[in-house]
Amino acid sequence: MRDAAIRIDGLHKAYRGSKGQPEKHALKGIDLTVPRGSVFGLLGPNGAGKSTLINILAGLVVKSSGNVSIWGFDQDKDPRQSRAAIGVMPQELNLDPFFTPRGALEVQAGLYGVPKSERRSDEILELVGLSDKAEAYARTLSGGMRRRLLLAKALVHHPKVLVLDEPTAGVDIELRQMLWTNVRKLNEQGMTIILTTHYLEEAQEMCDEIAIINHGEKIAQDSTANLLSRMDSRTMVIAPDSPVSNLPVTEGVEAALQDDGNLILRYRSTQTSAEQVLESVRQVGIRIRDVRTAEADLEDVFLALTSARADDLPTDDQTKPRRGMHRVKL
Ligand SMILES: Nc1ncnc2c1ncn2[C@@H]1O[C@H](COP(=O)(O)OP(=O)(O)O)[C@@H](O)[C@H]1O
Ligand SMILES: [Mg+2]
Repeated sequence: MRDAAIRIDGLHKAYRGSKGQPEKHALKGIDLTVPRGSVFGLLGPNGAGKSTLINILAGLVVKSSGNVSIWGFDQDKDPRQSRAAIGVMPQELNLDPFFTPRGALEVQAGLYGVPKSERRSDEILELVGLSDKAEAYARTLSGGMRRRLLLAKALVHHPKVLVLDEPTAGVDIELRQMLWTNVRKLNEQGMTIILTTHYLEEAQEMCDEIAIINHGEKIAQDSTANLLSRMDSRTMVIAPDSPVSNLPVTEGVEAALQDDGNLILRYRSTQTSAEQVLESVRQVGIRIRDVRTAEADLEDVFLALTSARADDLPTDDQTKPRRGMHRVKL
């Protein structure tokens, strides 16, 4: 079998508690395989354990137990090779203020034993848009420029796997664009990308495959498409021609009237067709002025997976009243 980019088995991390606090179990037995060549999303709310996992991969945090191998190299048995295979852009802006971007890249290349002839500092600075700041001290760089430099540092040793920990949290649109353009370009060139985010849309847009972690446990891992199709709940919003007096009553369709007079219809696309939903509306004499539909996005998947047990999934999102909606019992 072809080796994975990353293989993690039974990964545990307990942080020692400070001043009489109990220890914190940040990772509780994570198994994770990241395929080579993918853009892989690690998704979870704040405190889920994403950075802990990333920092263990980066060798910045020492795991409590479990096995980690990077590009086929066991972290404990082959520490040098496994470290060489991965580049990490950390969440924290940890830069030495006295280095210039070019200086920082040269030091980093030295640490990784990249021979002078193979160094590409200028090319990397160009890639992240820092060419004109190559000789500026890090302490004079803006937050966005520091992030660019962190990305550049992660790339100096040509890693097989690039890991970005919440790269877009709090960054401006231009930087976000730069990041995604580079992520796509590097991935096309064969680099495996892992990114953590708590922005669901971002994972949905960028990633081929997604693992969701919460409270130190993996609660799902699947291709982005499969994860989305697990949620077959659909919402149709109908703007009626005149105020609605009778709500449609059809099995499998939950109807509710919004404050603005629009009719909301929830149904499961695997059980009811859009045509059946529309028919149920016409049956009670409602004339449709406008209609739009909404598909499940990762937000729904995530809420369902984190707040409900698996067996509650089919009904969970239908029983939750939404803001601005009157619940209507059918
Ligand atoms: N150095 C540390 N010492 C003690 N607890 C920590 C430390 N780092 C993280 N934690 C705790 O571990 C949990 C996971 O944190 P983290 O990995 O940063 O999550 P995420 O990146 O998903 O937001 C949190 O409860 C956090 O408070
Ligand atoms: Mg984090």
